[in-house]
Amino acid sequence: MQSFAAVDVIIAKRDGRELSDAQIDWVIDAYTRGIVAEEQMAALAMAVLLNGMTRGEIARWTAAMIASGERMDFAGLGKPTTDKHSTGGVGDKITLPLAPLVASFGVAVPQLSGRGLGHTGGTLDKLESIPGWRASVSTAEMLDQLRGAGAVICAAGAGLAPADRKLYALRDVTGTVECIPLIASSIMSKKIAEGTGALVLDVKVGSGAFMKTVETARELARTMVDLGTDAGVRTVALLTDMSTPLGLTAGNALEVRESLEVLAGGGPPDVVELTLALAREMLAGAGLADVDPVPALADGRAMDSWRRMIVAQGGDPDAPLPTSREQQVVPVPADGVLVGLDALKVGVAAWRLGAGRARKEDTVQAAAGIELHAKPGAVVRAGEPLMTLHTDTPAAFEAALADLDGAWVIAPEGTRPADRPLIIDRIA
Ligand code: URA
Repeated sequence: MQSFAAVDVIIAKRDGRELSDAQIDWVIDAYTRGIVAEEQMAALAMAVLLNGMTRGEIARWTAAMIASGERMDFAGLGKPTTDKHSTGGVGDKITLPLAPLVASFGVAVPQLSGRGLGHTGGTLDKLESIPGWRASVSTAEMLDQLRGAGAVICAAGAGLAPADRKLYALRDVTGTVECIPLIASSIMSKKIAEGTGALVLDVKVGSGAFMKTVETARELARTMVDLGTDAGVRTVALLTDMSTPLGLTAGNALEVRESLEVLAGGGPPDVVELTLALAREMLAGAGLADVDPVPALADGRAMDSWRRMIVAQGGDPDAPLPTSREQQVVPVPADGVLVGLDALKVGVAAWRLGAGRARKEDTVQAAAGIELHAKPGAVVRAGEPLMTLHTDTPAAFEAALADLDGAWVIAPEGTRPADRPLIIDRIA
């Protein structure tokens, strides 16, 4: 491989020039091996954030990150594979009902997931509230589970896109996370290396998401769909609303409970709508475009698939979920119509109650979080419960309540809340 001086690569991007394939291959490889220093990569990431990358540069950057580690291969499974990735939001528990629902149709769902950082929850943290369940699964166990249970939700092994692992941690502390080329290449390098045949991206838009506007979300979605398609993965994206929390719960065990309601044929309408929309896309990507996922929630097939998936990873699907030591009810302040409930404020308050972590090393409280008793559009009465805060550390209530200041808007009765569809757009 041709080598370069790291400073020349930084200067090229600082001055707005396009990096060559050889420069990109070298800088990612050398950074992974510790030859490019952290401060040099930080400067390069900031230059990319400020000056952007062309479609060709993003594709090469992604390929170089994939090449930094191993690639998984599910070709021997004998069934199609399909996966979903969400860019993260508040109350986004969709993977929990979705993976077993799709697996109940004989499709393999290898779902490598992460832990939460900041106000967005992590799928692994949620599942770890189930007694006995473990996130770490070897590649051989993963293949076995995909053959049997059909779905596996687990932590990505350290060998998958190690360049991204290092770079993401660096971006987190250098103000370089919010950069479409870097987000797109980070997500897609892991998804392409994972070896799925089809991929559905749930790109969140709104206060509780990375992308605050439809325009930036659309650009991120387009970039990721192009990367996936160019790499031979059938990829589509849905842009979905994250201005208000998804469902009625934010917090680990609370979200597992709500997911079980969906798997039992009930659950909040928005969680059901998004689960079904993403299931249809995943099934279509796996060649089952004509299949209707609705009956599998009603007749228990998806729940059976969930139980197999949980048991295969050591979990007890019948064990009671943890409950919080302390609760505090927040009452509705005035009669009217709830027209707004801010996702970011609810997410930050849930995090403050113990549902999330501030640093990677922190632990989370399984039972902490927020349960909503009303969603935008509901008629509410003063004094009724608006939400219940859950925590094991009651000293956190005061700060959580401060975070919730201004989180809701109650308008006079008869007001119609702004129409905001849950599914805003589809990008293929
Ligand atoms: N998730 C990732 O995996 N990478 C990013 O850059 C942002 C979100």
